[in-house]
Amino acid sequence: MTLPIQISPSVLPADFSKLGDEVRALEDAGVDLIQWDVMDGQFVPNLTFGPDVIAAARKHTSLPFEAHLMVLTPDVMAARYVEAGCSRLIVHAEACTHLHRTCENIRSMGATAAVALNPHTPASTVEHVLDLIDMVLVMTVNPGFGGQAYIQTMEPKIREVRDMITARGLGDAVNVEVDGGIGPSTIAGAAAAGANVLIAGSALYRDPKGLAHAVTDLRARAEAAFSA
Ligand code: DX5
Repeated sequence: MTLPIQISPSVLPADFSKLGDEVRALEDAGVDLIQWDVMDGQFVPNLTFGPDVIAAARKHTSLPFEAHLMVLTPDVMAARYVEAGCSRLIVHAEACTHLHRTCENIRSMGATAAVALNPHTPASTVEHVLDLIDMVLVMTVNPGFGGQAYIQTMEPKIREVRDMITARGLGDAVNVEVDGGIGPSTIAGAAAAGANVLIAGSALYRDPKGLAHAVTDLRARAEAAFSA
């Protein structure tokens, strides 16, 4: 058994001057959760949301929040993002000297842990922490900015992660998420490779028919193409 298809926005393209309205609009549009792209200006060139910004948005929606920690020091920052209202923390394997301990620490805070893999990082990196996490994020762009082109050569890695999860009998416990360049022309390839949580930023906000149409369309495409 595998977990359901979920569509989540990246709020990078949102209007930061009215994030409360923006998260309400995303909930109304039918997204399943909200991903906050946290960037420290060191692990990636961009600088984005501190925990207080996320905490301010927390009261405007009942949707789950996850923090995609694109930061050099996830162990230092993790507790603040859990306190801000994030129920899942995604750490980058490339920023964790002791990834197993980092995942255990996140779980001890009452959040779920997930691990992100940059395009160059092999799927095997998560082999020995699969029992500690509820998701593997396979990056389909090099992190730092929205609006980049989907890296289709990541599809074999998505499949490799999905097959690793299945082989361990964890299909009902561990999600496969993809993030970067996900839109109407790319989501089917990612879902067919085994991704069940799909992050979209630009594709949601640039749909001329609006957020709800974009979410419904992306969900239908992913559900039609998904293969465990
Ligand atoms: C990269 C960011 C983006 C963002 C989604 O660091 O994580 O991938 O979430 O951006 P789009 O959907 O616009 O490619």
